[in-house]
Amino acid sequence: MKDYKRYLLTAALPYANGPIHFGHLAGVYIPADIFARYLRLKSEDIIFVCGSDEHGVPITIKARNEGVSPQDVVDKYHRINKESFERLGITFDIYSRTSSPVHYETASEFFRNLYDKGEFIEKTTEQYFDPEAQQFLADRYITGTCPRCGNDSAYGDQCESCGSSLNATDLINPKSMISGSVPVLKETRHWFLPLDKYEPWLKQWILEENKHWKPNVYGQCKSWLDSGLQPRAVSRDLDWGIPVPVEGAEGKVLYVWFDAPIGYISATRELTPDWKKYWKSEDTRLIHFIGKDNIVFHCIVFPAMLKAEGSYILPENVPANEFLNLEGDKLSTSRNWAVWLHEYLDEFPGKQDVLRYVLCANAPETKDNDFTWKDFQARNNNELLAIFGNFVNRTLVLTHKYFGGKVPKASTLTGFDKEVLEQFTKSRLAVEKSLDTFRFREALKEAMDLARLGNKYLADTEPWKVYKTDPERVQTILNISLQLTANLCILFEPFLPDTTAKLRKFINLDKQLWSEAGRTDLLPEGHIINDPELLFERIEDEVIEAQLLKLTSSREAKANSTVGTAPEPAKANVSFDDFGAMDIRVATILSAEKVAKTKKLLKLQVDTGLDIRTVVSGIAEYFEPETLAGQKVCILLNLEPREIKGIQSQGMILLSENKDGRLYFVEPRAEALNGSAVK
Ligand code: MF3
Ligand code: ZN
Repeated sequence: MKDYKRYLLTAALPYANGPIHFGHLAGVYIPADIFARYLRLKSEDIIFVCGSDEHGVPITIKARNEGVSPQDVVDKYHRINKESFERLGITFDIYSRTSSPVHYETASEFFRNLYDKGEFIEKTTEQYFDPEAQQFLADRYITGTCPRCGNDSAYGDQCESCGSSLNATDLINPKSMISGSVPVLKETRHWFLPLDKYEPWLKQWILEENKHWKPNVYGQCKSWLDSGLQPRAVSRDLDWGIPVPVEGAEGKVLYVWFDAPIGYISATRELTPDWKKYWKSEDTRLIHFIGKDNIVFHCIVFPAMLKAEGSYILPENVPANEFLNLEGDKLSTSRNWAVWLHEYLDEFPGKQDVLRYVLCANAPETKDNDFTWKDFQARNNNELLAIFGNFVNRTLVLTHKYFGGKVPKASTLTGFDKEVLEQFTKSRLAVEKSLDTFRFREALKEAMDLARLGNKYLADTEPWKVYKTDPERVQTILNISLQLTANLCILFEPFLPDTTAKLRKFINLDKQLWSEAGRTDLLPEGHIINDPELLFERIEDEVIEAQLLKLTSSREAKANSTVGTAPEPAKANVSFDDFGAMDIRVATILSAEKVAKTKKLLKLQVDTGLDIRTVVSGIAEYFEPETLAGQKVCILLNLEPREIKGIQSQGMILLSENKDGRLYFVEPRAEALNGSAVK
């Protein structure tokens, strides 16, 4: 490889429309942070940038569904994600956001530059328009029937039922999710990046010059390139995003995948006035850490943008990972099949390194991989605790017991002693070799193997037995064990920064540079060590069972939470007074009977705590009348009485719908009293 003078590491900017989960961490942020810490230990000139990706349609949809503004959504998740990255010990030099003024400026300039140079083509196409809401509809804002499988809540870009990717115009009976009206096709003008024009260059650059990329990355690029590149629209008709900086482009914004990667540049600009040194000189090694769904954008689209602009460097490597599954099933945020970082950090305080360890040891580097809570427990109990923790603890406790906490002197060395000492440097080289080629699992295993050797060394030399007959021999054994401990402090530093910081305190060692690993005299004779505490705790079965239960129950809750896959759009806000005007109470059904000549209606006698009244409710298809006596319900008491099939109905029972449209009572807890207000 070329001799680089500095490093620029980027980690994919996560969308600020949800929290970070284990899949993100194993795929992107943990390997990126390990690499950043490793380079810093080697005193390299490095910066590590990330931030929130705050544009794109999913953010506006989430805002709509929750009845808040897109700004509220991104503010919330930017804060949550920034904080949880910090708590996990991810050491970004900056965690910026694509709503920052610097980014608006950088992205607009970038677009304007390509525009002025005539690098875009302009095209008019027909797109769905909502005549009622008076706006163009992003594909995600249109639902309809899937032409392939007949699912009637497919989206304009994809059917989640059969997995087909669709065009909005493929949908049968399309409907706008904003107003519910039938969209019409209308002409609109957009700017396109002619990727086809860059195809020959991309083929040369990737297929010939970047043969060192990981096979999964190289392979995906090759298949994109082999099937031929098309011009890609870089603008959208939306009101959330960076306005297209061109006259006559009102109502148009930059496509999120155009602005987001420029966010790496903006973040660097925000971080340092020296940003050009990182982005514009050929002796910077630019590395993008991403997940596999981002490969095409980072290896093909963004490089084509950079090439078109002309003054920026290109990535030297893009070590993308595959996906992490969860308990044998594909991770899915919409099905709530995920473990969220902020919840883990709350539920496992002080155990951030356990998560770093497990997700690195199990990272989906070459193929999709599975996270299971059982494996999490096993790696904690059988590796971190039984190997690393146990070795360190025995070494430090024995040093206190026999030598008052002073590093004893090493004298005559046996063959085994020498072998162990020689392994220090070998381990460092092995970890380095793996890290240098982005094989983080292997690197971690090499470091753990040194702890494993330490454990074996103590088990074989048995200082606790030898002490009675040969205390001098024990001095040598513990000296070597202590030097090994000091080496572990360095080798594990990029992986387990919290643990190594604790360990350094126990052995009174300053932070060392990477190059010191391998030394056999890091702790000189007579050096005083402190009282040790335990580095790791056992994780019990109950804890794991609770996590498994939480996972399955949150999936069930989610499955029952919405009608179909597309919830109704949120309604307009109401005032607090409007809400307060509704008198909702806890009540109990006393009896029920079918209303003659109807299929759906039941006539109920209800004890509201204030009176006993009659209510007609459309639930006959779902409940047998004789089973309802004693059922607790919520009732809207002051709904205008209505005559239904000749019966005066006084009030309305509150119901909710499951996925199949079946109705359920909104059920108060058993201890709630009739007549108590629901507020
Ligand atoms: N937000 C995207 C995702 O989560 C990643 C954007 S990476 C960037 O998949 F390069 F565009 F910033
Ligand atoms: Zn389908």
